[in-house]
Amino acid sequence: MITPAPSPQPLVPVIAIDGPSASGKGTVAQLVADALSFHYLDSGALYRVVAYATHQNNIDWDDATAVAACAKTLHIQFKHGQVFLNDTDISDQIRTETIGKGASRVAVHAVLRAALVDLQHSFRTAPGLLADGRDMGTVIFPDAVLKIFLTATTETRAKRRHQQLLGKHQPADYQAILQDLHTRDARDKGRASAPLIMAEDAILLETDNLTITEAVDFILLNYQQKMCK
Ligand code: CDP
Repeated sequence: MITPAPSPQPLVPVIAIDGPSASGKGTVAQLVADALSFHYLDSGALYRVVAYATHQNNIDWDDATAVAACAKTLHIQFKHGQVFLNDTDISDQIRTETIGKGASRVAVHAVLRAALVDLQHSFRTAPGLLADGRDMGTVIFPDAVLKIFLTATTETRAKRRHQQLLGKHQPADYQAILQDLHTRDARDKGRASAPLIMAEDAILLETDNLTITEAVDFILLNYQQKMCK
């Protein structure tokens, strides 16, 4: 008797949205995920958790080996939009400017990035995944069905971050924010491991003159077109 070969399991679709700091990616990505009832991976939050945990343990952010060793011991979970470290909700603690800078520093370490690959892949579950970050389309999910490179000028991004901080009643100095974005962009683009770069098959989405709704609709439309091909 000949047993028919099992038909290959279709891969769970991934939409990858990459781009620089403060481009509005997070907001847009979450709305696209909600519209499609997809899971959402905020990969930046992982680097923020590592920065937070290493800081708590007095580990130097530039010490690649110690940072990666610490990361391997962490139990990170996302539940209902909140981030948990070893069962403690640290969603607010990882969103400070200090931890944002730390995340950008630890993210340069290839050994740390390698330690976080399996965890990121584990988010790929049905019906689909919206992956948000810097290297989603280039390194982590190169087979993503749709890749978007979402960006805006540094000035637009600095204005957005400035407004965001004011809205949260946090200290906000426009010139300092602008300078910080230049530094983070240079670090993201210049690092040897998984630098911020637009994937060859990504679609560029410049959001300077777009509303959030327009950006979301653009991505949904492109996803529908990809799926109907
Ligand atoms: O707030 P911001 O957009 O700067 O950061 P985020 O998306 O929360 O990510 C925090 C930091 O993690 C960024 O500054 C990046 O350097 C780094 N990151 C990365 O290297 N790779 C990713 N896939 C996501 C974030």
